[in-house]
Amino acid sequence: MGDFPSNFLWGAATSAFQTEGGNSNSDWWEWEKKVGLKDLSGDASGHYEVFARDFDLAKSLNHNAHRFSIEWSRIEPEEGKFNEKEIQHYKDVITELRNRNITPLVTLHHFTNPLWFSRLGGWENKNSYKYFLRYVNKLLEAYGELITYWITINEPLVYIYQSYLLGIWPPQKKSLICARIVENNLIKAHLEAYKLIHSFYAKNNLRPPLVSIAKNVQAFVPCRAGFLNNLAVILRNRFFNFEFMEKLHRKGALDFIGLNYYTRSVVEVKGLGILNILLDVCTKNHQKLEKNSLGWDIYPRGLYDLLINFRRFNLPIIITENGICTQNDDLRWRYIKQHLGSILAARNNNVDVRGYLYWSLIDNYEWDKGFEPRFGIIGVDYISYRRQVRQSANKLSEVIRKGSLTDD
Ligand code: BGC
Repeated sequence: MGDFPSNFLWGAATSAFQTEGGNSNSDWWEWEKKVGLKDLSGDASGHYEVFARDFDLAKSLNHNAHRFSIEWSRIEPEEGKFNEKEIQHYKDVITELRNRNITPLVTLHHFTNPLWFSRLGGWENKNSYKYFLRYVNKLLEAYGELITYWITINEPLVYIYQSYLLGIWPPQKKSLICARIVENNLIKAHLEAYKLIHSFYAKNNLRPPLVSIAKNVQAFVPCRAGFLNNLAVILRNRFFNFEFMEKLHRKGALDFIGLNYYTRSVVEVKGLGILNILLDVCTKNHQKLEKNSLGWDIYPRGLYDLLINFRRFNLPIIITENGICTQNDDLRWRYIKQHLGSILAARNNNVDVRGYLYWSLIDNYEWDKGFEPRFGIIGVDYISYRRQVRQSANKLSEVIRKGSLTDD
């Protein structure tokens, strides 16, 4: 089936708010209490304290790359006031990774905002990108020479969908107009950050960095073939998976494609309105597949199809997230193996996939779903905060060591 190249990026991903704990200046911290979520993020996975030990485990599992996010609300807890201690904290994080020969991939925005920023209207504010750029500039000064991979924004369309269309995440709006405004501001933020990052590296005679976003993609399949279902699949695939990336690509503002892939969405149009065509899903799920503990279908074929479709961008691709929440670690391993199979098959079809980052390195706070979903390749006991390396992690580690996907 072919092997993975020796310079392939192998590792896992995390985000600050989901793992660190104590992010008390963030909008999520206030919101989760205000709405009374069943689980509050609290100490999360305790990663803020024990990140170096977590990286020891990653190293022992042969990881050579790690994606994490910087919590803006720690760096800039009040508007324009930067916290040197927190800046140093992330410098330590980066240094500990580099000391272990683990390549850091830094995410600048992963769903959460500083409270002060959300009080100014968050991403609806027309100056939002300027605040973001000031923060990015601070990070460049602090870590520019230590980082090659920058991911400006994690899953912009998921953020917009959850926070401004479904209205189930802060600031809980349900408005197409707001969603559109936020989308434009996020695009602007990425375009400007892209320029800023590149000009910093050029000015300081540093090797050019690689900048992208982490784009959530889904396989859309019709529940039953038929004109409306088929049309909806085409439209959703276009609007959700490709359009945002095309906008950035046309402006030359992507150096690679970062893809987060988990599952498929089964399309069943139940009415003739535009929202029916864009949003209706099949609830009966006639084509039964194995599922994760949140009920998402396991569908590795979708990753292959998407990779083949992204080939036309002519850019290297990194899988910036792929993972499963389950209590069944055998299923986790099957999931990983099947998705790695899709990646190899795509590579054999000339898709330039250069890395695979499993979501997540450790069990963590799954947003409004709390601590129950277990995505970690390393388990966390939320009472003792002890880590438990799962068998799936060991099996992945063997694949990394061998550079090939042979039977376990
Ligand atoms: C997000 C993560 C989340 C994961 C699993 C991705 O969409 O980037 O923050 O934990 O999916 O739901």
